Amino acid sequence: MEIGALRSDGEPTMRKGSLMFQPQRIFAALVTTAWLAHAAAADGPSLVKSDQCTACHATDGRVVGPSFKEIAAKYKDEPKAADKLAASINGGSSGKWGPVPMPPNAFVNDTDAHTLAVWILGL
Ligand code: HEC
Repeated sequence: MEIGALRSDGEPTMRKGSLMFQPQRIFAALVTTAWLAHAAAADGPSLVKSDQCTACHATDGRVVGPSFKEIAAKYKDEPKAADKLAASINGGSSGKWGPVPMPPNAFVNDTDAHTLAVWILGL
């Protein structure tokens, strides 16, 4: 969790001249953030962040791996594209995009791998 998020509601926790600390507001913000993170746990964008895909991928533009939009474009006419991509996400991939392989992301369960694959293909 980032401290910056606590300030993003536009409400400064410290006002000029008063140096007032408001623990109850901070607590409320933490609870809200935790709840939102939980509620969003099963969708593509939050999985991509929580599973660290963003260390190597961006939606647009290459990082270490191809962009998610490039992947979507390449597989848009493939039958069973979601199954293939889910298998790559779990088991890793090499030789399809360039010299750098993707290591297996074995910690991503099958359901999440499939959610990620469908999300990528829909970009
Ligand atoms: C260490 C860097 C790295 C991480 C972390 C990583 N990837 Fe990749 N990914 C790559 C590279 C490099 C390729 C290209 C591999 C190739 O050429 O076959 C790739 C390819 C892919 C592909 C295309 C596979 C194919 O069959 O064409 C998908 C889909 C993908 N990544 C999704 C993900 C998702 C989702 C995550 C997070 C769970 C993730 N990647 C995490 C580096 C990474």
